[in-house]
Amino acid sequence: MQCSAYSGQTIARRADCLVIGVFESRELGAEARAVDRALRGRVRGLLQRGDFAGRAGESLLLADVPGLRATRLLLVGLGAARNYHRRGWRRALTAAVTALARTRVASAVFALERPDERELDDYTLARSAAEACGAALYRINDLKTGKRPPAPSLARASFGPFAAGGLADARRGLGDGSAIAGSAALLRNIANLPGNICTPRYLAAQAAQLARSHRSVRARALNEAQIRRLKMGCFLAVTRGSAEPPRFIILEHRGGRRGAAPLVLVGKGVTFDSGGISIKDANAMDEMKFDMCGAATVLAAFDLAARLKLRLNLVGLIPACENMPGGRAIKPGDIVTSADGQTVEILNTDAEGRLILSDALHYARRYRPAAVIDMATLTGACVVALGAHHTGVMGNDDELARELVASGKRADDRAWQLPLTEEYGEQLKTNFADVANVAGRDGGAITAAAFLGRFTKGMKWAHLDIAGTAWLSGAQKSATGRPLALLGDFMIRRARG
Ligand code: BES
Ligand code: MN
Ligand code: ZN
Repeated sequence: MQCSAYSGQTIARRADCLVIGVFESRELGAEARAVDRALRGRVRGLLQRGDFAGRAGESLLLADVPGLRATRLLLVGLGAARNYHRRGWRRALTAAVTALARTRVASAVFALERPDERELDDYTLARSAAEACGAALYRINDLKTGKRPPAPSLARASFGPFAAGGLADARRGLGDGSAIAGSAALLRNIANLPGNICTPRYLAAQAAQLARSHRSVRARALNEAQIRRLKMGCFLAVTRGSAEPPRFIILEHRGGRRGAAPLVLVGKGVTFDSGGISIKDANAMDEMKFDMCGAATVLAAFDLAARLKLRLNLVGLIPACENMPGGRAIKPGDIVTSADGQTVEILNTDAEGRLILSDALHYARRYRPAAVIDMATLTGACVVALGAHHTGVMGNDDELARELVASGKRADDRAWQLPLTEEYGEQLKTNFADVANVAGRDGGAITAAAFLGRFTKGMKWAHLDIAGTAWLSGAQKSATGRPLALLGDFMIRRARG
């Protein structure tokens, strides 16, 4: 979609549709009031008759409104005026785009009431707008064979009005937001694919494709023999039970100064997690095809860095494999040796993510990174703790964690820091090896992070547990695109200062 920003009078804009907001108490915001005045109170009249209540997410499309240059007028509910913040604004915008996507409207002007400037400056508002529109227009890349519903017609969106002095910032925001939306769609398309298509080799092919599409990106993928040469005993342990060959994918984006320490992104790439010998129950097991959302986020982050030509050196590491039971599979009680020489007792083969990540995190060390961020659908415990609303943030550097939490706020892709203090690591003690891969139910999201922390000593490291945020279940089942917006904000700030 093509996004633009305007300043000046809303009523004068030509488009297939003009979108304005209405508060719940039938109150009109400043922009809607100006439009209503030009329409000689038509909107107010409608509200007074009680035809539109202004509830959050509600919308009403009116055609051929005299006095309007736009062919249609869409009213969208903003909810209660005193509770109107960026969340309400974003929800209204999403509702408007969703409503327009069911029509033949190809161009729209969005003049929604703006939340407080301190909450959402011109750049951030515009970026959120472009990104939210892209997200609302996303359609699942399903494999249905019937007649496809027509793609949404909406192709041009104009946002405003901005003060003339804010247009440059707004345009920058729209550019960044459109790029984030594009990369998020790539993430979702990869993550929504079933495990029999999206295999470790498929992920490697996607990385190679990125390198072909973007000059700044390089990609390679190590096969099982090469992984063995790196002595990645934990990673190899997980892939043993699977007939699908594993891949260790390495991406580079060279946008920064030569020799500048890179940001290393690590993504969990379990293309299907059956649990292995510690097999999961059948309930919703299909959703374990999403266990590669961390990997998909890393791929999308490279797509984004390349689109935005971010002046940043980036390295991406993706350990990709399946977790399956079988005659060769690892068994509870097995002891393996990680790439950095620690012995690990595998008490539960379903705690596989931390195993493959530990070897990838150790591999990150050779880059002398400025920071390492891993992203993983790591624990059900994180879903219990934070639900689907916040990504869990843990790590060994509070400043880095705070930076990520702040990025999540700015990007409407929220994250919350959990306390990774020493006690949690002590729960991983065992009589038989240096460390066990599980520590019982209590504090499960944090004990998983404590396991990872053993492999990141001396590096600035943060871990994002996206188990609750990376996809939706039930009727809405789909990858969400999270945490790309958070990561995008983080990378943009690191690159542009
Ligand atoms: N991929 C799962 C985590 C997960 C479960 C994400 C459900 C989203 C929804 C991970 O590999 C796993 O199985 N973790 C176990 C760890 C346990 C055995 C310590 C879990 O959370 O149950
Ligand atoms: Mn598992
Ligand atoms: Zn898993």
